[in-house]
Amino acid sequence: MNELLKGNRALIMGVADKHSIAWGIAQGMHRQGASLAFTFQHEPRGRIERNVRKLLSELGNPQDFPLMACDVTSDSDIDNAFRTSAAALGGLDTLVHAIAYADREDLNRPFSEISRNGYKMAMEISAYSLNAVARAASPLMEQAGGGSIMTLTYNAAEKAVPGYSAMAPAKAALEAGVRYLAAELGPRKIRVNAISAGPLRTLSASAVKGMTVLRRWTEAASPLRENITLEDVGNTAVFLASDMSRMVTGNTIFVDSGTYILGSQVAAMPAPEDAG
Ligand SMILES: NC(=O)c1ccc[n+]([C@@H]2O[C@H](COP(=O)([O-])OP(=O)(O)OC[C@H]3O[C@@H](n4cnc5c(N)ncnc54)[C@H](O)[C@@H]3O)[C@@H](O)[C@H]2O)c1
Repeated sequence: MNELLKGNRALIMGVADKHSIAWGIAQGMHRQGASLAFTFQHEPRGRIERNVRKLLSELGNPQDFPLMACDVTSDSDIDNAFRTSAAALGGLDTLVHAIAYADREDLNRPFSEISRNGYKMAMEISAYSLNAVARAASPLMEQAGGGSIMTLTYNAAEKAVPGYSAMAPAKAALEAGVRYLAAELGPRKIRVNAISAGPLRTLSASAVKGMTVLRRWTEAASPLRENITLEDVGNTAVFLASDMSRMVTGNTIFVDSGTYILGSQVAAMPAPEDAG
């Protein structure tokens, strides 16, 4: 085990199963010696809780990982999750917000047809929730002399990506929120950043039409000609949690095989050896 995050106390929000980005991040941070607590979204059949408990037992002794139900639409859930995890971990240095939701119907509608309620819900769960958890985390991080908050975003915030519909404005608001929170919390040495990940097959992503095409296209045309993995996102999250990124705040870091820099989705540059 390496120890880049030894002594670092992190709360991870958003593990649903072994494919979750939050799980890739948790594994990366665990490998680097962080102490971890987790929240999960309670749902009636308890499927997510069972998944998370099983994953924690693979990570080590489940007793070592405080676990709390938390729906980010509930302020009392959030208060309870932060109080309990900070008490169990002895403080809080890092917060991972890997949460998003939009109704499948609204994701599949043309943008102009998104329902009023669907738009509001995507905004509340996927964007406003960062404010709510940052508000709960910041006094705890201040007590620790500072901290790092990170969230997950997607390039559909800036560019029109077919199939992303109701989630796109939520990601744009989330990225603006990262900048505003970074500016506000910086004087208290709390950093706030976003990781913009390339397409990964997760539960949430299964609601986005065109995922397979996006992954194929990344392999064929992204500068690195390869899809990203959970481990790639986990490693960037380790960097953001660690002192290695001490002066990095308010940023969106792209872990996307370089896709972001391309001006056209059609005309990928030939690799030098392919050029006639
Ligand atoms: N998978 C991708 O291709 C991709 C790419 C870029 C960004 N992201 C972002 O990464 C983040 C994590 O998503 P993922 O792809 O790992 O999928 P996921 O389905 O594994 O994770 C989404 C999580 O959000 C949680 N959640 C939804 N509503 C909630 C609520 N009301 N309260 C508490 N938790 C709630 C779910 O329980 C789940 O754990 C999201 O913000 C997503 O938009 C995903």
